[in-house]
Amino acid sequence: MRRKLVVGNWKMHGSLGRNRELLEAIKPALQGLEGRVEVAVCPSYLHLADTIAALAGSHVGIGAQDLFGLGEGAMTGEVSASMLADAGVGFVIVGHSERRGRLGETDARAADKFAAAREAGLVPILCVGETRSERNAGETETVVLRQLDAVIDNQGIAAMDKAVLAYEPVWAIGSGDPATPQQAQAVHALLRERLKQRGGDIADGIRILHGGSVNAANAGELFAQPDIDGGLVGGASLKAREFITICASAGS
Ligand code: PGA
Repeated sequence: MRRKLVVGNWKMHGSLGRNRELLEAIKPALQGLEGRVEVAVCPSYLHLADTIAALAGSHVGIGAQDLFGLGEGAMTGEVSASMLADAGVGFVIVGHSERRGRLGETDARAADKFAAAREAGLVPILCVGETRSERNAGETETVVLRQLDAVIDNQGIAAMDKAVLAYEPVWAIGSGDPATPQQAQAVHALLRERLKQRGGDIADGIRILHGGSVNAANAGELFAQPDIDGGLVGGASLKAREFITICASAGS
């Protein structure tokens, strides 16, 4: 039985004051869900330390939104996996479509980041997903399997153990146009099947989150699908009430 996981991706939003308000609003309610659903939030690098302090003593995990994938040292402006682990971060998002699409992050770069995260003891959340034009061209399977295979080819299937996968159709992110539960389930099942084909005993245990316009109204039906193990939530994770409802529907 896979325990559901809901991760709030705050993206480039927030301020020290607004984050504290949000955390104060969600912390008690999430405390009540302890043991039923795992929850984590991913603030910007700049806000990690303050978020870690604000969540001290709670079961809510902390994730970073990115990391540098090629070691550490002289690399101006970057943050290494070991720095994140040392600061108390547990998860890190890898290969988010905003980085792939707008910052030119390749499959190979995502594989490097995945490896660096694991080496430092972080749990990578590997994002895969097709654009609208790829879906319209019938390329959804090819794209998401290529993105997954790039990491397995580089790291081996055993590296997926303890990692988290997130299927986020790019066209659904921030658009208010989520995948239907059936569309989402079909791709989640395909990804799990690929993990099995690649020899993974871990395929049944790995959590595959869903992302892209997940909100309080649609989370329940999405999370009820057999291969959807929770959500990677952007916009709705910035609204206390919405995020609490989404987490509660994962824990019901
Ligand atoms: P959204 O973003 O929930 O705002 O669509 C999800 C994500 O990009 O992780």
